[in-house]
Amino acid sequence: MLDFVKVTEAAALAAARLMGRGDNDAADRAAVEAMRAALGELDIQGRVVIGEGERDEAPMLFIGEVVGSGRGYEVDIAVDPVEGTNLVAKGLPNAISVIAVSERGGILHAPDVYMEKLVVGPSAAGRVDLRWPVARNLATIASSLRRRVEDVTVVILDRPRHAELIEEVRQAGARIKLISDGDVSAAIAAAVSGTGVHAVMGVGGAPEGVLAAAALRCLGGEIQGRFWFRDDSERERVRSMGIPDPDRIFLTEDLVPGQQVIFSCTGITDGDLFKGVLFFAGGQRTHTLVMGASTGEIRFVDSVYVTDRERVGPIRLF
Ligand code: FBP
Repeated sequence: MLDFVKVTEAAALAAARLMGRGDNDAADRAAVEAMRAALGELDIQGRVVIGEGERDEAPMLFIGEVVGSGRGYEVDIAVDPVEGTNLVAKGLPNAISVIAVSERGGILHAPDVYMEKLVVGPSAAGRVDLRWPVARNLATIASSLRRRVEDVTVVILDRPRHAELIEEVRQAGARIKLISDGDVSAAIAAAVSGTGVHAVMGVGGAPEGVLAAAALRCLGGEIQGRFWFRDDSERERVRSMGIPDPDRIFLTEDLVPGQQVIFSCTGITDGDLFKGVLFFAGGQRTHTLVMGASTGEIRFVDSVYVTDRERVGPIRLF
């Protein structure tokens, strides 16, 4: 499990160097290259099921690419080397590098279309329903947290398509955190107490929904998702990927049905969960959340890498 820490750390370190450059592609490219190289060091026979795109549009970590040393377990892999490329390009919070790993067939092959999502933490898991009115879900989330609706905070991507949803949440009385990008990190935050985030609602990427599901399998939270099609060709694309009923609601275990699920994410920029990459004199520091669904292990890993002994001072506690 800890091997995968190195994979997201490598991608985060590479992307963080390019923070604030305004160059989404450069940050993504650096992270992709670093992540692929780190995967090559692992004794796995990995198959990318969620990656940078189809083979003809992505040179590395494309869907179907075989990664790893070619020895060891056969696994399916979902990656997002930079979840929130805009956030890195602008130096904004909550950009993370993400990987989810499972036995073959353990991760839904979701194409890059949109998905309507409802994410809650462990206390409201199994008690909400994407088909219900927003106010009913908010009341359920509030009561399962023994709070008033006014004390619940919902994260929503700041997009025109969410105007109605935002209005409904406001009418219900809950607080809202509008984010410019990064709904995977928000989904994890909703399942971790103390982050001040209690739910995520609205439409984001379907691959990000699957990655969030892997994290929620480990944390005990829940995601419910329904593909959100802009036209019929997108619906057909989902069908052609072996999903016979594209309009159904997918629960956490439908998105990530694997028995053995490992999830790792490393902060690139500072965020609600942990700090991003820190570069200091003679070294660098990363913060990672790595978890196993079947083992029940949840580790916050704080790694210090000394790169120049001559320049490094005493290591700080935090
Ligand atoms: P990238 O990592 O590809 O930059 O995506 C970031 C993101 O904000 C996701 O977190 C979210 O699910 C999706 O994009 C939303 O898509 P859109 O920007 O098209 O609304």
